[in-house]
Amino acid sequence: MPYYHSAGEVPPKRHTQHRAPDGALYYEELMGEEGFSSDSSLLYHRRIPSAISEFREWPLPDQSLVPNHPLTPRHLATHKLFEDDATGVDAVTGRRLLLGNADVRIAYVVADAASPCYRNAIGDECLYVESGRARVETVFGDLEAGPGDYVIVPRATTHRIVPQQRTRLYVVEANSHITPPRRYLSKHGQLLEHAPYCERDLRLPTEPRVVEEREVEVYIKHRGRGPGGVVGTVHTLPHHPFDVVGWDGCLYPFAFNVSDFEPITGRVHQPPPVHQVFEGSNFVICNFVPRKVDYHPLAIPVPYYHSNVDSDEVMFYCGGDYEARKGSGIGQGSISLHPGGYPHGPQPGAYERAIGVEYFDELAVMVDTFRPLELGEAAVASDDGVYAYSWDRGQRGQAPESP
Ligand SMILES: [Fe+2]
Repeated sequence: MPYYHSAGEVPPKRHTQHRAPDGALYYEELMGEEGFSSDSSLLYHRRIPSAISEFREWPLPDQSLVPNHPLTPRHLATHKLFEDDATGVDAVTGRRLLLGNADVRIAYVVADAASPCYRNAIGDECLYVESGRARVETVFGDLEAGPGDYVIVPRATTHRIVPQQRTRLYVVEANSHITPPRRYLSKHGQLLEHAPYCERDLRLPTEPRVVEEREVEVYIKHRGRGPGGVVGTVHTLPHHPFDVVGWDGCLYPFAFNVSDFEPITGRVHQPPPVHQVFEGSNFVICNFVPRKVDYHPLAIPVPYYHSNVDSDEVMFYCGGDYEARKGSGIGQGSISLHPGGYPHGPQPGAYERAIGVEYFDELAVMVDTFRPLELGEAAVASDDGVYAYSWDRGQRGQAPESP
């Protein structure tokens, strides 16, 4: 994020001595993007942040991907992926891979256990809380997350996810940075007046978290010669990585609740970019929130049929009742994948039924990618197998009632 924030104790001048009450020096770490040429923060550690006492491989959960071939729109019922009474699942090692390409991986997890300390060295992560509550503890301090929260965790931020209750997380792992859309930012990085949210809507860590503990493991996801080019390593640190007494700068994790997104509406149907909330390299994140809909006297409030020729579209249905998908089996926790090369739109009847409707009570998070998405093991496991036929009014268009 581009605006300045400070938490805890920092010295008045950067790169100068900063000492504990007993006179010991704190160790300054610059955490910065794009080779010291973009946003950064300075963190002051009680111990040397480079210290490693052991290292080993972290065999990741299945990261393999198979092409979406033959080309097919799909409905993935994510709530089938985890048993209702499953325990001991954490939000880092327990996530299951749904979709991925060279730019992004999308995963899902229902977590009830605290994760190990974790660092994604490949890119930023966007955690979306479908339900439940969790504390995201980071080297910058804590973020409390509940239903509808996005938590953006910058690349290589050491953190852990501690559920306060059983928590459903939709996870977007970028291979790049995740930021507000460029068109909503001033040349110096302030969110502009026409943006659907502003800095006041963002929640930042307010105080450091300092933990005294020895021999702590940090799970690191990084680039390598594994499936999808992703591999894992575990470093054992001689001390806890949460030892920062203060930090300042423009790079930090933050939270944003989807209910603080002010929808942009119009007389006729607005295109999906008005719903955009974040972007990464070669993908965007949008959200469809409860809103008054199109008010032209002859408006058709559901989307027109569309060929988004450069993108695959992934909708995660996470609240309300999604008007355009009625009759398709789509329900809470469902994902629809509409790949490029295929025109999609409302299910039969929805186009007509929407006329005259003034308000949609729907909530969905969409990821549009500019490279084709491939299917992870969780997509294969949760595919309903019949969604592709749901626009066909003939014999095969029999979708299940709900996932
Ligand atoms: Fe679409």
